[in-house]
Amino acid sequence: MAIDLKSAQERITAPLNIAACAPNWDSVLEDAAQAPTLLIVDEIDLNRRLLRAMLKTAPYHILEAKRPSEALTILEREKVDLVILDQVMPEMTGTEFCELIKKDRRTQLVPVLITTSVQGMDNEVAGYESGADEFLVKPLRPALVRTRIRSMLRNKALVDSLEEAEGILFALAQSVEHRDRYTGMHCERLAAYGIALAQALGLPRREQLALYRGGYLHDIGKIVIPDSILFKRGLLTEQEWQLMRQHTIRGEEICRPMKTLAPVLPIIRSHHERWDGSGYPDGLRGESIPLLARILQVADIYDALTTARPYKPAFSHQHAIDMMLEEARRGWRDPELVPLFAEVTQHGGDAGEAFFNGSEGMQASLAAMRRELSK
Ligand SMILES: [Fe+2]
Repeated sequence: MAIDLKSAQERITAPLNIAACAPNWDSVLEDAAQAPTLLIVDEIDLNRRLLRAMLKTAPYHILEAKRPSEALTILEREKVDLVILDQVMPEMTGTEFCELIKKDRRTQLVPVLITTSVQGMDNEVAGYESGADEFLVKPLRPALVRTRIRSMLRNKALVDSLEEAEGILFALAQSVEHRDRYTGMHCERLAAYGIALAQALGLPRREQLALYRGGYLHDIGKIVIPDSILFKRGLLTEQEWQLMRQHTIRGEEICRPMKTLAPVLPIIRSHHERWDGSGYPDGLRGESIPLLARILQVADIYDALTTARPYKPAFSHQHAIDMMLEEARRGWRDPELVPLFAEVTQHGGDAGEAFFNGSEGMQASLAAMRRELSK
């Protein structure tokens, strides 16, 4: 993919505001054995009691709200597995509230069942268009309600297990990173640099998200590399190099089963390719190297140069950029991307450096970026 350099340079006008955030690993492995939590949102007490009675046959943890604002507070506080909404509510209709739930990434995977007294196809179509997973017309039949809810919860459990699998992969990637105690916050910085460059290039959110994930997952294949090679002080033998190069292919193999990680696979596989074709694992050259892999590579090299390692001090921003420009001249790096990255990071100046030094401000910005990405 070619770069539209002119448009990218025009976009670099505002101060650098790059961020990503470390996901909350503690929440990744929540207790799966808990009873499902259902939230009933209905203004009428009798209706809520009726639904409660119908659902008594299963060990559900049931929460209640009389209005959408109450329900939103609960959704922010609790992990809810299913929402049952009445179409007629104060503040907004059930379908409007359902749209709100489905627009928010934090709740979009929570199944919603809308109940209504209003008969008619139009009403039902509007319900499904709002993103509702099921739609039931009153009077509610207990057996049908129970069957629908069981089936919705089964689907939710499947989705949860997929999300957890992705979370476990991220945790695994973090553990790989933590093996090397000299690269603390490396993944977070990579994700942030990659996203900043992607934003300058005007890449869509989907690709920004791939870079965010790639920042964490690109070296996950190093899990198969023994410490004796990974942390060897001296030069690697040819055989050791061969094994080391395998981390790109092994990483791709580890992540391939996760469908949601498909956009990240080219980053994992190709982040060590070189512009002139002398890289690995496939010897790709020029624009045949996936753009996202080229972006992550530039970010990776910059971070390695500007952080202290056992064998070198942390170089200044300018020194690092000069070295990267030299590598671009030598034919190793994308000759357009490196100068653009220099502009992106230069624009951040000292604010950018302070941002990455673990301040509270950084944490807030990381969280803001995650929220922004999740919309
Ligand atoms: Fe790597």
